[in-house]
Amino acid sequence: MTRSAHGEPAAADDAASRIASWQRRAGRHGLPWQHTRDPYRVWLSEIMLQQTQAATVVPYYERFLSLFPTVADLADAPQDAVLRAWAGLGYYARARNLHRCAQVLRDEHAGRFPGTAAELARLPGIGPSTAAAIAAFAYGERAPILDGNVRRVLARYFAVEGDPTAARTAQRLWEHARALIAAAPASLDMAAYTQGQMDLGATVCTRTRPDCARCPLAPDCRARIEGRQDELPTPRARRAQPLRHCWMLIAECEGRVLLERRPDTGVWGGLWTLPQFEDEAALEAVRAGLGEAGPPLALASIEHVFTHFRLRIQPLWLRVRDAAPAPADANQAWIFIGDLAAHGMPAPVARLLDGLYDGAPLLR
Ligand code: ADE
Repeated sequence: MTRSAHGEPAAADDAASRIASWQRRAGRHGLPWQHTRDPYRVWLSEIMLQQTQAATVVPYYERFLSLFPTVADLADAPQDAVLRAWAGLGYYARARNLHRCAQVLRDEHAGRFPGTAAELARLPGIGPSTAAAIAAFAYGERAPILDGNVRRVLARYFAVEGDPTAARTAQRLWEHARALIAAAPASLDMAAYTQGQMDLGATVCTRTRPDCARCPLAPDCRARIEGRQDELPTPRARRAQPLRHCWMLIAECEGRVLLERRPDTGVWGGLWTLPQFEDEAALEAVRAGLGEAGPPLALASIEHVFTHFRLRIQPLWLRVRDAAPAPADANQAWIFIGDLAAHGMPAPVARLLDGLYDGAPLLR
């Protein structure tokens, strides 16, 4: 151990220890999933945080836990209830995997989380970085993480060139992530270190205009020394996101709206949406099947951004005058306006219906 001139043990100055001390001093501390080692709570927060910012996650996290206080409650819940609690967070495959994972734990692991990152990574929806974060927070395991924020921090600190999501670059970054832990003393506080990397990426080593004056890695950060913070990580070659168009039909009859439950796979899988059409002929066919109706009213179009494309939605509002016909499709149902909020919907659909019926907000 290094000793100061007076012989006391000096604070370790390896990069990982500096990040952990910085986190204790200047990192985020008020987030509701901190200060727990319960793997269920840690797992839930890490899944919610995978593609969503902490400030958005907080109310969802708290409501989810009040609805499903334990992993057994979650495993036994109907999928619809889980998707409803998730509605608005996006990337719904996360919610379906979360539910499946809880059932695998119930059925194959006696309802308990396994105790290592390697075993956690075999469960549905848990990749290597999420598994390591859970193991570090819940068990103190010396497991390296590499999420989007950490990739940026390490790419700058070690001046790693190349698209950080490309396999070869990612492999080099994983090696650096492992080496930082290997160089740290056994006393490294893994929860503070893991949280510190995330906090550094979110609040200091940001994509644009990183605040190097506040960074504990600044003295030996290669990107800073070489003045290359703007060049690293190497920007990903982005293809222009195509714009797609569709219609959504808001058919209303006797105080009810026609909704359609999406198949379990694909975007919005398992959620309730409005009937959606890519061509006018299909739209006309369904409209004709609904019987006597006034002319459809075109509402303001909205745009929704998916990972690989944008979707311009043209909503058409149709008041059906006849008695509601039986839905043409087994996945469709006429839902009373007052019951819309009980159906898990994608955010753009909930926003559309909220705007029209301004009753109980559909997105909580
Ligand atoms: N992003 C991923 N995990 C996180 C955490 N534990 N706290 C804040 N942001 C995060």
